[in-house]
Amino acid sequence: THSLSKFYFVYKAAPKTQVEFDYDGPSMKTSVPGTRSQVTHKQHVYSQNVGAINFFCNYDESRGNYLVDVDGNRMLDIYTQISSIPIGYNHPALLKLMSNPNNLSTLVNRPALGILPPENFPNKLTESLLSVAPSGMGRVQTMACGSCSNENAYKAMFIWYRNKERGHNIPSDEDLSSCMVNQVPGCPELSILSFMGAFHGRTMGCLATTHSKAIHKLDVPSFDWPIAPFPKLQYPLEEFSRENAQEEARCLEEVEDLIVKWRQKGKPVAGIVIEPIQAEGGDNHASPDFFRSLRNIACKHGCAFHVDEVQTGGGNTGKFWAHEHWGMDDPADIVSFSKKLLTGGYYHKDELQADKPYRIFNTWMGDPSKNLLLAEVLNVIRKENLLEEVTRSGKALINGLYELQAQYPGILSRARGQGTFCAIDICDDATRSSILLKARDKGVLLGGCGDRSIRFRPALVFKDYHVHIFLNIFNEVLAQHK
Ligand SMILES: Cc1ncc(COP(=O)(O)O)c(C=O)c1O
Repeated sequence: THSLSKFYFVYKAAPKTQVEFDYDGPSMKTSVPGTRSQVTHKQHVYSQNVGAINFFCNYDESRGNYLVDVDGNRMLDIYTQISSIPIGYNHPALLKLMSNPNNLSTLVNRPALGILPPENFPNKLTESLLSVAPSGMGRVQTMACGSCSNENAYKAMFIWYRNKERGHNIPSDEDLSSCMVNQVPGCPELSILSFMGAFHGRTMGCLATTHSKAIHKLDVPSFDWPIAPFPKLQYPLEEFSRENAQEEARCLEEVEDLIVKWRQKGKPVAGIVIEPIQAEGGDNHASPDFFRSLRNIACKHGCAFHVDEVQTGGGNTGKFWAHEHWGMDDPADIVSFSKKLLTGGYYHKDELQADKPYRIFNTWMGDPSKNLLLAEVLNVIRKENLLEEVTRSGKALINGLYELQAQYPGILSRARGQGTFCAIDICDDATRSSILLKARDKGVLLGGCGDRSIRFRPALVFKDYHVHIFLNIFNEVLAQHK
């Protein structure tokens, strides 16, 4: 028998064909960060964010679900660059695409897409982003990252709202002069309603709707915008369905109260923004019913409904968009994305198209080379049935987490998830940190979220047998914390 069978979970060997470009397990040479990472870190005095760096990586050697570091440690990556690697490292289909000489000029010449797009751009959009457009949305605006997608989506909602109020799109002279000095009516007192625990990015507008951690917000001026409570569900959901329904009803009621209150304050709510699963804020879920009701509230009060799928989009929940789990034909007015989609941007209804050029604009407005890669990623997702695979491995993952939670009730609670987009709570923050570091030294990379949760964000090529490798290692780590 395999040596891992001495642990709780039986290791299921992968069929060879499935792992062509993957390694067969973690392989650790040092603790992480190893010497080479530490030395490089000391040399790295020029950056930005030295304090946040975990270790230095060797992307040439990384494959599939495994990230290799500069000390030669090979780790099963269940965090995937903050959930942004769609089909694993160095997928052969993507390497092949990049080695095609016809694609070189797309890589070398990054255009100002808003004014000088390449001829094949409309076709590439059709092949990539538009082929996975959410229901009811035929338009897409590409952008560079998640924050700038949300930031511009908010602007689109304000522009739409003001034109709706005016009844036409011709600004007055007063609008034009007052906006130049940040005053009404040109810069109107409008607001966006967001939720406690939300994360929508760190730029100024996004930050006004981000309420996950104080460290993101401290010292930065913000807007007086309404913040509604996000449901705090009790797990397991089946046992608490009545309590959870009441909790969701309470939050929805609060949303309507806030919309009315802010209208009375003279700062009407132009849009509501929400994540289908609050990720950074602790993997907080709500039911499809909650989202359907919220969508209806937005319609009833004339607010645009913006679903931020930056982290949930791209297949991790078992559907390409998490909002598909709500089963609606008209789920949103705007859906923003980034991360696994490789390029940022947002889909929108026709009405939310800005009425004049340069109102929603920046230099790059995305990157055509990312659309090339995305088109191929989508091919791989279809060819390899990766959404079904995610559903399958997600079941193995959540069932494994339930078992471990039963085995270590003093450490683990509230296992939850959709597809492989799973999380579990640890008894306290210190224990969480210790578990994350020990797991890493044993070859498993995980991320935290919220006050004391661990989130699972594998690539879409994360299979049952990767789940079992993880569960065995996690079990060992937990045994040390008992
Ligand atoms: C839901 C959500 N929105 C927005 C963002 C911001 O994206 P970016 O970091 O690319 O600016 C994130 C990033 O984690 C996110 O999870």
